[in-house]
Amino acid sequence: MRQLKPGILSVGAINWDSRLFDELIPLPEGTSYNSYVIKGSEKTALIDTVDPSKTADLLHNLIEAGIDKIDYIIANHGEQDHSGSIPDMLSMYPEAKVVTNEKCKGMLIDLLCLDDSNFEIVADRGQISLGNKTLEFHFTPWVHWPETMCSYLKEDKILFSCDFFGSHLATSDLYATENVYEPAKRYFAEIMMPFRPAIRKNLERIAELDIEIIAPSHGPIHKNPAFIINAYKQWVSDEVKNEVVVAFVSMHGSTSKMVDYFCNALMERGITVKRFNLTGIDIGKVAISLVDAATVIIGSSQVLAGPHPTAAHAAFLVNALRPKTKFASIIGSMGWGGKMVETLAGLLGNLKAEIIEPVISKGYPKEDTFEKLDELADKILAKHKEIGIA
Ligand code: FEO
Repeated sequence: MRQLKPGILSVGAINWDSRLFDELIPLPEGTSYNSYVIKGSEKTALIDTVDPSKTADLLHNLIEAGIDKIDYIIANHGEQDHSGSIPDMLSMYPEAKVVTNEKCKGMLIDLLCLDDSNFEIVADRGQISLGNKTLEFHFTPWVHWPETMCSYLKEDKILFSCDFFGSHLATSDLYATENVYEPAKRYFAEIMMPFRPAIRKNLERIAELDIEIIAPSHGPIHKNPAFIINAYKQWVSDEVKNEVVVAFVSMHGSTSKMVDYFCNALMERGITVKRFNLTGIDIGKVAISLVDAATVIIGSSQVLAGPHPTAAHAAFLVNALRPKTKFASIIGSMGWGGKMVETLAGLLGNLKAEIIEPVISKGYPKEDTFEKLDELADKILAKHKEIGIA
């Protein structure tokens, strides 16, 4: 429990040991579920709650802070890592109303079995008064889910942004340092990247506000909002870098030999290579690289006439994350015929990327394979030159 400003407390929980989010996303540095109390002269509000696994921490912090009455529980987002403790909060503070938008209300009824009478609905740009403090609500859809919104505390110029500008980072620092850049970029890549156009609009929307502090519901608080806002502007832009992500799996060494040769060929042409052997890797590292790279290459051995499941998983994830990648291709090896290339290309259907002709080796790569890999590297360089990044 720590104070941001007089009457404004951080009362959430740090999860140092969590290693997987949504049973999907690696958390190498843990995470936090931030929750904030705002004590106005007349009313008290709780901004978001915490994951149900940490309800006891939230309750402990509220008791320590001497909060004996909560009038409003603001639900910026329906996902359970922020909403999951609402039922316990309503048990402890039965007079409290859950303040949210209509869409989020429906989700909370579905997810948490709350009753219609628990809610007070706010409109976009709607306000509630806490007496000497005013909360204003700004709908910012798709800063993870369609119902997401931000709460702006007008008098103190604090934006409570929930997932927006968050980072999966367990730290004793209340405020962000430059160390937050990588965890925030990971967070963007894994959670926000598919919604870049919506996030661009939301960045324009919050530019209307005079913001001194951004207090997200994951990771440290931003006392320098420009740092994280400018990073987001870069990440959501259509600008790509002269970089190639090569994500591969190799069963018997043929594909890895191709990857080694191909990565060297790219480097000789002045292209930055982000090489990922997918076996046992933190897939979040691939996601981070996809934020900027102009080109992505999936490398795979063929298994049972199709792609290796590890490569298929990577292709599925790339497709789901919808990065701004401009070009893509496939390299790999096989022992006999099959549909590895067709299957992988089909998995990349969401990408607005030009597919450059794949290079597949029958068995161990030989001289003609290396020539084709050189040609692929030449084509990628030419494409990068066409768009002015090489
Ligand atoms: Fe942190 Fe989308 O929940």
